[in-house]
Amino acid sequence: MKRILSGIQPSGKLHIGNYFGMMQPMIRHMEAADLYVFIVDLHALTSVQDRDRLRQGTLEAAADFIALGLDPDRCTFWVQSDVPEVCELTWMLSILTPMGLLERCHSYKDKVAKNIPASHGLFSYPVLMAADILLYQAEVVPVGKDQKQHLEVARDIAIRFNNTYGTTFVVPEPEISEDSAIIPGLDGQKMSKSYDNTIPIFLDEKALRKRVMAIQTDATPVEDPKDPDTCNLYALLKLFASPEKMREVHALYVNGGAAYGYLKQDLFELINTYFAAARARKKEFLDDPGYLRQVLAAGAEKARAKATVTLDLARDRMGLKY
Ligand code: ADP
Ligand code: TRP
Repeated sequence: MKRILSGIQPSGKLHIGNYFGMMQPMIRHMEAADLYVFIVDLHALTSVQDRDRLRQGTLEAAADFIALGLDPDRCTFWVQSDVPEVCELTWMLSILTPMGLLERCHSYKDKVAKNIPASHGLFSYPVLMAADILLYQAEVVPVGKDQKQHLEVARDIAIRFNNTYGTTFVVPEPEISEDSAIIPGLDGQKMSKSYDNTIPIFLDEKALRKRVMAIQTDATPVEDPKDPDTCNLYALLKLFASPEKMREVHALYVNGGAAYGYLKQDLFELINTYFAAARARKKEFLDDPGYLRQVLAAGAEKARAKATVTLDLARDRMGLKY
């Protein structure tokens, strides 16, 4: 069984980009993998400094995953900071991380361009992510396309460590699902919690309708042909609509007759129905945070048992055991 691992930041409400890019693929892997899923609160500190928001985000991310079908008994599911060994490994790996490798990371540059403070933590974010992956000896890491470069950094660091100190870490492979590679947000850029352009998974009807209606579209008149490949509304519809429905919509785009207002109403109804059952389950979990905390504590214990074995080996390899 392959060891498959991925994490998600609790920095805001999880959205449909997170769902199709990472959560759904991870939940599907539960059937046939040794699965590690975690909530990366230490990473989220780079953008959230409001403690109540972080706490709430962490519990909600846990509720979201379980409501959407992740079974904590069939995987290892925990909160990153509950296994502090990851911070020690981060330091050890940072010694082998060239500045140039981090300077090339697009995600850092994009976030700074979006006014996220350019802290040392934000800069070294990919090293903590590499530690997340290597600490658990993950073989496969399913992520959205935006994380591909971070995976390359993790692989590079693993290879450098193995070359310097002898084989210690599994070199992880990314798994990027092509059909949902980058899901656009309301403004057509990558949907991201950092950009305030998301459609959260678990909005109530009224708020969901408002979000969907706010999808930005161009000013082409209804009767004119439109290019489906550059339209974010079309890309979002494709995630939820049946193939038959999409054939109809495609014809309206290329022949003329696609009315954005009606298509947004369709999209709203599709999303609302798609997540209705999970939304009800999430509410039950949030009403009982004691259960969530218990699940996460048990998960952290399982994760920590694995982490201490790897860390012990890495320490030995580096000469930190005397
Ligand atoms: P965000 O950018 O909203 O903060 P994260 O960086 O926490 O999201 O991403 C969590 C996971 O969801 C990652 O695997 C990431 O690749 C995936 N993901 C995030 N946004 C998208 C998107 N717009 N399309 C596809 N996958 C996404
Ligand atoms: N950086 C990832 C993101 O923003 C989250 C993350 C942190 C992660 N550690 C990880 C993903 C380890 C996969 C594996 O989406």
